[in-house]
Order: sequence, then structure tokens, then C-alpha cells
Amino acid sequence: FPEELTQLLDSHVREVPDFPEPGVLFRDITPLLADGPAFAALVDALAERYRGKVDAVAGLESRGFILAAPLAHALGVGMITIRKAGRLPGPVTGVDYTLEYGTARLELRPETVTADQRVLIIDDVLATGGTARAAIELIEGAGARVAGLTMLLELDELRGREQLTDYPLDSILRY
Ligand code: PRP
Ligand code: MG
Repeated sequence: FPEELTQLLDSHVREVPDFPEPGVLFRDITPLLADGPAFAALVDALAERYRGKVDAVAGLESRGFILAAPLAHALGVGMITIRKAGRLPGPVTGVDYTLEYGTARLELRPETVTADQRVLIIDDVLATGGTARAAIELIEGAGARVAGLTMLLELDELRGREQLTDYPLDSILRY
């Protein structure tokens, strides 16, 4: 992504020390989303990169939805919703994944995916990679293909990228 874009986006990411707990430096994207030109520049750049290359965009609840919906619309493809446990009416498939404390579960309605469809998975943040891995399992389990993953923000220190080496991974901002 062009330097000009990454600088613009970076200037709208707020650093919040000690959130959600002491010692954690939280990268807050709400100023970026609230800025019309920055949000538009982000969606336009993603649309330019993936136009004609993907058949659907899968968003990961909840912050991934914010990016997936406008991107799917810009590309003229459908949006697949991968949701937290218990939110989607059945039939669903589910994958458990590990969080820093405990586990969580993501679910998909396989009927929203078609065989061999090229799916782009999008989320706001790549941290440990657990969320992204679960999403890959769900998409592939439903018979579609993961064409790539795109993350607005990657936290290098947590090494999520190492869990995703078999897939093209784009992150726009890396910290
Ligand atoms: C955050 C973030 C990513 C995920 C990244 O979501 O939005 O989805 O964590 O972490 P990982 O790479 O270690 O799996 P969170 O589960 O906090 O929920 P939210 O999107 O609903 O805020
Ligand atoms: Mg999330």
C-alpha cells in the first residue's frame, strides 16, 4: 500500500496506554473510522487491490464487519458473516479457538458460501492469529477457498503471521 495512504491512516490510529488492562498499549481505530476521507481512502485502496480477484468478503464479528461490508459493496460481491457463538440461526459450523484467557468460538452458516468460491477474510487487527485461523477453518470446511487475508493493523510482537504462512496476508499498518 502506498506510503501516503499508510501515513494518513496511521495518523488516525490512537494509542491508548493500559487498555484494556495495565501494560497493554491499545491501538484504537475509532478516530480513523470517524474520519470520512481516511475511511474512504482505506476502503478505496482495498477495493483497488482486490477487484476481480475475490468472489466474496468474509468479515469477522465484530470489528471486522465494519471493514467487510463497505469492501464487499465496493467490489460488487457478497459479504459472509462469521459470528461469535450463538448469534447465527442454524445450521452452523463452529470452530473453537484460544484467547489469552480461555477459549471462544466462531460460527458460519455454510449455506452462505459456495464451493470453490474465492473468499477474502478481513479483520481489523491481527494479534495472535487465533481468530484468523478459526475463520480459515470455517471457510475451508464449507468448501470454499481462502484467497487471502487482509488486516488493517498487525501487531508484530504477537506473531500471528506465523500461523498463517500458507495464505497471502496483507496488513496495512504494522506495529
Ligand atoms: C479482536 C480483534 C480481532 C482479534 C485479534 O477481536 O478485533 O478480531 O481480537 O486477535 P487474535 O489475532 O489474537 O485472535 P475481539 O475478539 O476482541 O472482538 P471484537 O472484534 O468483537 O471487538
Ligand atoms: Mg475482532
